[in-house]
Amino acid sequence: MAHPAHYREAHPMVFVLTHWINLISMVSLAFSGFYIHYPFFSGFMGVARGMHFFFMYVLVVNLTFRIIAAFFVKSAVVNGSRQQDTDIKNWLPQEANRGQMIPWLKYYLFLKKDHPLGAKYGVLQKIAYIATVPLTYVMMWTGFSLYGPYMNHPWFESSLALVGGPMNMRIIHYFMMWVFIIFTAIHAYLANVEGFAPSRLIFAWKESEGLEFDPKTGKVVGGKGH
Ligand code: HEM
Ligand code: HEM
Repeated sequence: MAHPAHYREAHPMVFVLTHWINLISMVSLAFSGFYIHYPFFSGFMGVARGMHFFFMYVLVVNLTFRIIAAFFVKSAVVNGSRQQDTDIKNWLPQEANRGQMIPWLKYYLFLKKDHPLGAKYGVLQKIAYIATVPLTYVMMWTGFSLYGPYMNHPWFESSLALVGGPMNMRIIHYFMMWVFIIFTAIHAYLANVEGFAPSRLIFAWKESEGLEFDPKTGKVVGGKGH
């Protein structure tokens, strides 16, 4: 299979940082949140709550910054190429993704050995990443609804009423944690299943050599191979 190169242009430094901040916040929130739910050792509740309150703001500010940056920062929009355009293009439907949904599904379902090559992100990868945006904001919303200082705010108060009180909101917030844990497990597996080149790039900002290909014809147009 022709593996595209993973060039720095695909994940400019600012997105390497936002991914790190997001990952660290998520791990801290899941850990402290789980502890708040089920204090599996004693004497840590103050720290756990402090951790949760700190990282919830970090997470939300980081995500909002990442979204705004998508409109200003340029990143590679073609898999395996250094050619750059505004990052938001990676998140909208792209010509190079067209007609690839079914082949990608077959690949994920082990019905097909190879997956289509095209835009920077595959169809389902794109959908899954975009889904993390509303999911994170739902997390924020449910979390703030549980947060004392916000509970009397009319927006959050009405949300609490909508779900039938704070206990139900807690259950929703807790359940959503598992949604994130499952997303992350699948994401971490799929991101590394074809080799560690994508992770080397998003975590260490290290490039890996590969093949460059024309997204339209799928033909190799350069690169060394690996
Ligand atoms: C995005 C912003 C978030 C906000 C505003 C938020 C807010 C809160 C608040 C206020 C509580 C109650 C804490 C207490 O009363 O001591 C809580 C509990 C909790 N949070 Fe978050 N949180 C957020 C994100 C997350 C994330 C990303 C996760 C996990 C991946 C998470 C997992 C939990 C869990 C498991 C609990 C305990 C729920 C229970 O008691 O069953 N939270 N959160
Ligand atoms: C064990 C933890 C993780 C690993 C190994 C990992 C790995 C990766 C890799 C390799 C990429 C680049 C994919 C590519 O270039 O094709 C990526 C991107 C991404 N990951 Fe993760 N990731 C982890 C945790 C998370 C978490 C916790 C989230 C969110 C809940 C997340 C959301 C994303 C998003 C949204 C992107 C696109 C990045 C952007 O363009 O800003 N990741 N991840």
